[in-house]
Amino acid sequence: MLSLQGYRQLLETSRRVNWRLQDLLGEGRRLDFRRPFLPETFAQTQPLGFLSPAEKLQLNHIRARGYLALFELVETFVVQFISGQADDAEQPDAFRAPALRHFADEEQKHRELFGAVLREFDREFGTPCGRIGPTDEICRAILSHGPLAVSIAILGLEWMSQGHYLGSVKDNQDLDPQFKSLLKHHWIEEAQHAKLDGLVLKALAERSSPADVVAAIQEYFEIGAFLDAGLQQQAGLDLESLQAAIGRRLSHDERQQFLDIQQGALRWTFLGSAMGNPNFLAVLASISDDAAARVQQAAKSFTPP
Ligand SMILES: [Fe+2]
Ligand SMILES: [Fe+2]
Repeated sequence: MLSLQGYRQLLETSRRVNWRLQDLLGEGRRLDFRRPFLPETFAQTQPLGFLSPAEKLQLNHIRARGYLALFELVETFVVQFISGQADDAEQPDAFRAPALRHFADEEQKHRELFGAVLREFDREFGTPCGRIGPTDEICRAILSHGPLAVSIAILGLEWMSQGHYLGSVKDNQDLDPQFKSLLKHHWIEEAQHAKLDGLVLKALAERSSPADVVAAIQEYFEIGAFLDAGLQQQAGLDLESLQAAIGRRLSHDERQQFLDIQQGALRWTFLGSAMGNPNFLAVLASISDDAAARVQQAAKSFTPP
């Protein structure tokens, strides 16, 4: 059962665990390209038998870059959405606005952190790696949906990142310690975001009719389909990046196999593991059992590794 902490308590915790960018970046805190960055659960390099161990490691790094770059993208619309919610004058709790502003400020800081790490990555890796975009257009498309649907999408992503760190990163001893430290510090602050977004969703749901909730779930699936199309595009960009990095073109069959495996891996990472997250589903069930059941059912279409 999820404990329901209020805005005041979550703001206090956020302030206590808050870190500074300079705590995580700088001398002695460099990425070690001899180690994998992303857990195999997400990177899925092993099924690609036509790649050498060194090439699989390069693909792991490309996927890890994409992981941070996609979080940076997601956080762009999270900042815009949560800042808008902080300005909602109808909410009586005096701690709501400062708690949500703090949330948005932390996401902005995460964007800066990931931006700095991506620049370091690009200098060291040497091969440019593409990411879907443009950011503004993607954010505009997502934020064109109603606030209830957007808050459901963000809640799924917040709980997803919690699940990723605790389930696949925290106890993984193979990963580069610096990359792991970035994800750990991200998780420390995201823990409050997931709970705050739950409160935002509940406040929006209280003002909504059952029909509005049904419509919001439909829109949530539309956001999911939009992201899904973006992830398929991202797998193609990752293929180009890999071929450039390893200095050879894969055969037609190898490219097809790459896209099959990597599209599935990206979909699992960003959609399946969000839609099937038990904490996310528990919050959804608290506003509508039917909504939670529909999302849980849809999560089954994504194959876990
Ligand atoms: Fe974040
Ligand atoms: Fe977040």
